[in-house]
Amino acid sequence: MRVTISEIKEMKQRQEKIPMLTAYDYITAKMLDEAGVPLILVGDSLGMVMLGYESTIPVTMEEMLHHTKAVVRGAKKALVIGDMPFMTYHVSISEALHNAGRFIQEGGAQAVKLEGGEVVAESVKRIVDCGIPVMGHIGFTPQSIHQLGGFKVQGKTPEVAKRLLKDAQVLEEAGVFAIVLECVPAPLSKLITQRAGIPTIGIGAGPDCDGQVQVISDILGLYTDFVPKHAKRYAKLAEEIKVAVSDYVAEVKSVSFPTVEQSYTMDESILKQLMADS
Ligand code: KIV
Repeated sequence: MRVTISEIKEMKQRQEKIPMLTAYDYITAKMLDEAGVPLILVGDSLGMVMLGYESTIPVTMEEMLHHTKAVVRGAKKALVIGDMPFMTYHVSISEALHNAGRFIQEGGAQAVKLEGGEVVAESVKRIVDCGIPVMGHIGFTPQSIHQLGGFKVQGKTPEVAKRLLKDAQVLEEAGVFAIVLECVPAPLSKLITQRAGIPTIGIGAGPDCDGQVQVISDILGLYTDFVPKHAKRYAKLAEEIKVAVSDYVAEVKSVSFPTVEQSYTMDESILKQLMADS
Protein backbone atom coordinates (compact mmCIF):
# COMPACT_ATOMS: atom_id res chain seq x y z
CA MET A 1 0.00 0.00 0.00
CA ARG A 2 1.32 3.43 -0.95
CA VAL A 3 1.82 6.12 1.69
CA THR A 4 -1.02 8.68 1.66
CA ILE A 5 -1.07 12.40 2.42
CA SER A 6 -3.27 11.68 5.49
CA GLU A 7 -0.53 9.40 6.84
CA ILE A 8 2.06 12.15 6.30
CA LYS A 9 -0.13 14.66 8.17
CA GLU A 10 -0.69 12.13 10.97
CA MET A 11 3.08 11.79 11.39
CA LYS A 12 3.18 15.46 12.47
CA GLN A 13 0.36 14.86 14.98
CA ARG A 14 2.28 11.89 16.41
CA GLN A 15 5.49 13.98 16.41
CA GLU A 16 7.12 11.34 14.23
CA LYS A 17 9.79 12.90 12.01
CA ILE A 18 9.27 12.65 8.25
CA PRO A 19 12.27 11.68 6.06
CA MET A 20 12.12 12.76 2.42
CA LEU A 21 14.73 12.39 -0.34
CA THR A 22 14.96 13.24 -4.00
CA ALA A 23 15.25 10.58 -6.70
CA TYR A 24 15.43 10.91 -10.47
CA ASP A 25 15.57 7.32 -11.78
CA TYR A 26 14.18 3.81 -11.35
CA ILE A 27 17.03 2.14 -9.45
CA THR A 28 17.48 4.93 -6.93
CA ALA A 29 13.73 5.16 -6.32
CA LYS A 30 13.62 1.39 -5.77
CA MET A 31 16.46 1.58 -3.20
CA LEU A 32 14.85 4.49 -1.34
CA ASP A 33 11.53 2.68 -1.31
CA GLU A 34 13.13 -0.50 0.04
CA ALA A 35 14.94 1.57 2.71
CA GLY A 36 11.55 2.91 3.90
CA VAL A 37 11.61 6.53 2.71
CA PRO A 38 7.94 7.62 2.81
CA LEU A 39 8.25 10.70 0.56
CA ILE A 40 10.21 10.83 -2.69
CA LEU A 41 10.57 14.12 -4.51
CA VAL A 42 11.45 14.16 -8.18
CA GLY A 43 13.07 17.54 -7.65
CA ASP A 44 13.89 19.95 -10.43
CA SER A 45 17.37 19.78 -8.86
CA LEU A 46 17.59 17.02 -11.46
CA GLY A 47 18.58 19.80 -13.87
CA MET A 48 21.80 20.37 -11.94
CA VAL A 49 22.70 16.98 -10.49
CA MET A 50 21.60 14.76 -13.39
CA LEU A 51 21.56 16.96 -16.47
CA GLY A 52 24.48 19.28 -15.71
CA TYR A 53 22.65 22.63 -16.00
CA GLU A 54 23.96 25.53 -13.92
CA SER A 55 20.60 26.10 -12.22
CA THR A 56 17.11 24.59 -12.12
CA ILE A 57 15.75 27.23 -14.49
CA PRO A 58 16.26 25.39 -17.84
CA VAL A 59 14.39 22.27 -16.66
CA THR A 60 11.33 21.49 -18.82
CA MET A 61 8.05 19.67 -18.23
CA GLU A 62 9.13 16.92 -20.64
CA GLU A 63 12.36 16.30 -18.69
CA MET A 64 10.48 16.23 -15.38
CA LEU A 65 7.83 13.85 -16.72
CA HIS A 66 10.46 11.50 -18.18
CA HIS A 67 12.19 11.19 -14.78
CA THR A 68 8.95 11.13 -12.77
CA LYS A 69 7.75 8.09 -14.74
CA ALA A 70 11.02 6.27 -13.99
CA VAL A 71 10.79 7.06 -10.26
CA VAL A 72 7.16 5.95 -10.08
CA ARG A 73 8.13 2.61 -11.68
CA GLY A 74 10.75 2.11 -8.94
CA ALA A 75 8.76 3.32 -5.91
CA LYS A 76 5.92 1.02 -4.97
CA LYS A 77 5.28 2.38 -1.43
CA ALA A 78 6.55 5.95 -1.20
CA LEU A 79 4.38 8.90 -2.11
CA VAL A 80 5.99 10.43 -5.21
CA ILE A 81 5.94 14.21 -5.64
CA GLY A 82 6.70 15.84 -8.98
CA ASP A 83 8.40 19.24 -8.85
CA MET A 84 6.77 21.75 -11.20
CA PRO A 85 9.49 23.45 -13.26
CA PHE A 86 10.10 27.18 -13.69
CA MET A 87 7.30 29.03 -15.50
CA THR A 88 4.95 26.07 -15.70
CA TYR A 89 2.60 27.45 -13.02
CA HIS A 90 3.12 31.23 -13.20
CA VAL A 91 1.58 32.36 -16.48
CA SER A 92 -2.03 31.46 -15.69
CA ILE A 93 -4.06 29.30 -13.34
CA SER A 94 -5.24 27.18 -16.25
CA GLU A 95 -1.66 26.47 -17.31
CA ALA A 96 -0.76 25.60 -13.70
CA LEU A 97 -3.72 23.21 -13.56
CA HIS A 98 -2.87 21.65 -16.90
CA ASN A 99 0.77 21.04 -15.94
CA ALA A 100 -0.06 19.75 -12.43
CA GLY A 101 -2.50 17.37 -14.10
CA ARG A 102 0.22 16.08 -16.44
CA PHE A 103 2.40 15.10 -13.45
CA ILE A 104 -0.45 12.98 -12.09
CA GLN A 105 -1.92 11.60 -15.32
CA GLU A 106 1.19 11.12 -17.48
CA GLY A 107 3.94 11.01 -14.83
CA GLY A 108 2.05 8.83 -12.36
CA ALA A 109 3.03 11.04 -9.38
CA GLN A 110 0.69 11.32 -6.41
CA ALA A 111 1.38 15.02 -5.68
CA VAL A 112 3.13 18.09 -7.05
CA LYS A 113 5.37 20.71 -5.45
CA LEU A 114 5.64 24.32 -6.44
CA GLU A 115 7.78 27.18 -5.20
CA GLY A 116 6.49 30.44 -3.73
CA GLY A 117 4.14 31.76 -1.06
CA GLU A 118 1.21 34.15 -1.35
CA VAL A 119 1.84 34.76 -5.08
CA VAL A 120 1.06 31.14 -5.98
CA ALA A 121 -1.71 30.62 -3.39
CA GLU A 122 -4.58 31.00 -5.87
CA SER A 123 -3.06 28.44 -8.25
CA VAL A 124 -2.40 26.10 -5.31
CA LYS A 125 -6.05 26.34 -4.24
CA ARG A 126 -7.33 25.54 -7.73
CA ILE A 127 -4.96 22.58 -8.12
CA VAL A 128 -5.96 21.20 -4.70
CA ASP A 129 -9.67 21.78 -5.51
CA CYS A 130 -9.16 19.60 -8.58
CA GLY A 131 -7.99 16.75 -6.35
CA ILE A 132 -4.23 17.07 -6.74
CA PRO A 133 -2.25 17.18 -3.47
CA VAL A 134 0.24 20.08 -3.41
CA MET A 135 3.41 20.58 -1.39
CA GLY A 136 4.53 24.20 -0.89
CA HIS A 137 8.14 25.45 -0.90
CA ILE A 138 9.26 28.73 0.68
CA GLY A 139 12.47 30.32 1.96
CA PHE A 140 15.24 29.99 -0.61
CA THR A 141 13.38 29.09 -3.79
CA PRO A 142 16.00 28.10 -6.40
CA GLN A 143 13.78 29.03 -9.38
CA SER A 144 13.98 32.68 -8.16
CA ILE A 145 17.77 32.65 -7.84
CA HIS A 146 18.18 35.79 -9.99
CA GLN A 147 15.58 37.72 -8.00
CA LEU A 148 17.09 36.58 -4.69
CA GLY A 149 20.63 37.50 -5.81
CA GLY A 150 22.15 34.05 -5.38
CA PHE A 151 22.09 31.10 -3.02
CA LYS A 152 21.18 32.90 0.25
CA VAL A 153 19.53 32.09 3.56
CA GLN A 154 16.06 33.72 3.71
CA GLY A 155 14.31 35.22 6.73
CA LYS A 156 17.12 36.88 8.66
CA THR A 157 15.49 40.33 8.48
CA PRO A 158 12.16 41.14 10.23
CA GLU A 159 10.45 41.91 6.89
CA VAL A 160 11.41 38.64 5.21
CA ALA A 161 10.80 36.61 8.40
CA LYS A 162 7.26 38.09 8.67
CA ARG A 163 6.65 37.39 4.99
CA LEU A 164 7.68 33.74 5.39
CA LEU A 165 5.36 33.31 8.40
CA LYS A 166 2.54 34.79 6.34
CA ASP A 167 3.41 32.71 3.26
CA ALA A 168 3.27 29.51 5.32
CA GLN A 169 -0.13 30.48 6.72
CA VAL A 170 -1.55 31.45 3.32
CA LEU A 171 -0.28 28.23 1.71
CA GLU A 172 -1.85 26.16 4.49
CA GLU A 173 -5.16 27.99 3.95
CA ALA A 174 -4.83 27.31 0.21
CA GLY A 175 -4.68 23.58 1.01
CA VAL A 176 -1.06 22.39 0.77
CA PHE A 177 -0.45 19.13 2.66
CA ALA A 178 3.12 20.09 3.65
CA ILE A 179 5.63 22.89 3.12
CA VAL A 180 9.34 22.70 2.32
CA LEU A 181 11.38 25.33 4.19
CA GLU A 182 14.69 25.82 2.39
CA CYS A 183 17.62 27.74 3.92
CA VAL A 184 15.62 29.35 6.70
CA PRO A 185 17.22 30.17 10.09
CA ALA A 186 16.49 27.34 12.55
CA PRO A 187 14.59 29.50 15.11
CA LEU A 188 12.28 30.87 12.40
CA SER A 189 11.63 27.35 11.04
CA LYS A 190 10.74 26.29 14.57
CA LEU A 191 8.20 29.12 14.85
CA ILE A 192 6.67 28.33 11.44
CA THR A 193 6.51 24.63 12.40
CA GLN A 194 4.81 25.38 15.74
CA ARG A 195 2.19 27.58 14.07
CA ALA A 196 1.51 25.28 11.11
CA GLY A 197 -1.14 22.59 11.27
CA ILE A 198 0.58 20.75 8.42
CA PRO A 199 4.09 19.26 8.33
CA THR A 200 7.11 21.41 7.51
CA ILE A 201 9.95 19.66 5.72
CA GLY A 202 13.29 21.40 6.14
CA ILE A 203 16.43 21.60 4.06
CA GLY A 204 18.94 23.85 5.74
CA ALA A 205 16.17 24.82 8.16
CA GLY A 206 17.29 23.25 11.44
CA PRO A 207 16.18 20.22 13.45
CA ASP A 208 12.75 21.44 14.56
CA CYS A 209 10.97 20.99 11.24
CA ASP A 210 8.55 18.06 11.13
CA GLY A 211 10.67 16.38 8.46
CA GLN A 212 13.88 16.74 6.51
CA VAL A 213 14.61 16.58 2.80
CA GLN A 214 17.98 16.19 1.12
CA VAL A 215 19.13 15.86 -2.46
CA ILE A 216 20.13 12.19 -2.86
CA SER A 217 23.30 13.00 -4.85
CA ASP A 218 24.46 15.28 -2.00
CA ILE A 219 24.04 12.74 0.80
CA LEU A 220 25.63 9.96 -1.26
CA GLY A 221 28.58 12.15 -2.26
CA LEU A 222 27.80 11.77 -5.96
CA TYR A 223 27.46 15.43 -6.94
CA THR A 224 30.65 17.28 -6.18
CA ASP A 225 30.31 20.50 -8.27
CA PHE A 226 28.72 22.33 -5.34
CA VAL A 227 28.10 21.00 -1.82
CA PRO A 228 25.71 23.15 0.23
CA LYS A 229 26.45 23.74 3.94
CA HIS A 230 23.23 21.94 4.87
CA ALA A 231 24.16 18.71 3.09
CA LYS A 232 25.64 15.87 5.14
CA ARG A 233 27.58 13.17 3.30
CA TYR A 234 26.58 9.66 4.36
CA ALA A 235 28.76 8.09 1.64
CA LYS A 236 31.45 9.09 -0.84
CA LEU A 237 30.15 7.27 -3.89
CA ALA A 238 31.85 9.50 -6.49
CA GLU A 239 35.22 8.43 -5.10
CA GLU A 240 34.21 4.76 -4.94
CA ILE A 241 32.88 4.85 -8.50
CA LYS A 242 36.08 6.44 -9.81
CA VAL A 243 38.16 3.69 -8.14
CA ALA A 244 35.91 0.96 -9.60
CA VAL A 245 36.03 2.50 -13.10
CA SER A 246 39.85 2.90 -13.00
CA ASP A 247 40.14 -0.78 -11.98
CA TYR A 248 37.93 -1.75 -14.91
CA VAL A 249 39.96 0.35 -17.37
CA ALA A 250 43.22 -1.20 -16.11
CA GLU A 251 41.84 -4.77 -16.31
CA VAL A 252 40.50 -4.31 -19.85
CA LYS A 253 43.87 -2.94 -20.96
CA SER A 254 45.81 -5.77 -19.31
CA VAL A 255 43.29 -8.40 -20.53
CA SER A 256 42.63 -9.56 -16.99
CA PHE A 257 38.94 -8.89 -17.66
CA PRO A 258 36.94 -10.76 -18.86
CA THR A 259 38.00 -14.20 -17.62
CA VAL A 260 36.38 -17.61 -18.18
CA GLU A 261 33.97 -16.69 -15.42
CA GLN A 262 32.42 -13.90 -17.49
CA SER A 263 32.60 -15.73 -20.85
CA TYR A 264 30.20 -18.10 -22.66
CA THR A 265 31.24 -21.48 -24.07
CA MET A 266 30.03 -23.38 -27.14
CA ASP A 267 30.08 -26.96 -28.31
CA GLU A 268 33.63 -27.85 -29.45
CA SER A 269 32.36 -29.92 -32.43
CA ILE A 270 30.36 -26.95 -33.81
CA LEU A 271 33.45 -24.81 -33.62
CA LYS A 272 35.57 -27.47 -35.40
CA GLN A 273 32.92 -27.78 -38.12
CA LEU A 274 32.80 -24.01 -38.56
CA MET A 275 36.57 -23.82 -38.95
CA ALA A 276 36.60 -26.69 -41.43
CA ASP A 277 33.76 -25.11 -43.50
CA SER A 278 35.40 -21.73 -43.91
O1 KIV B 1 14.48 20.32 -6.44
C1 KIV B 1 14.70 19.89 -5.30
O2 KIV B 1 15.47 18.95 -5.10
C2 KIV B 1 14.05 20.56 -4.19
C3 KIV B 1 14.46 20.17 -2.81
C4 KIV B 1 15.77 20.73 -2.49
C5 KIV B 1 13.44 20.54 -1.81
O3 KIV B 1 13.23 21.39 -4.39
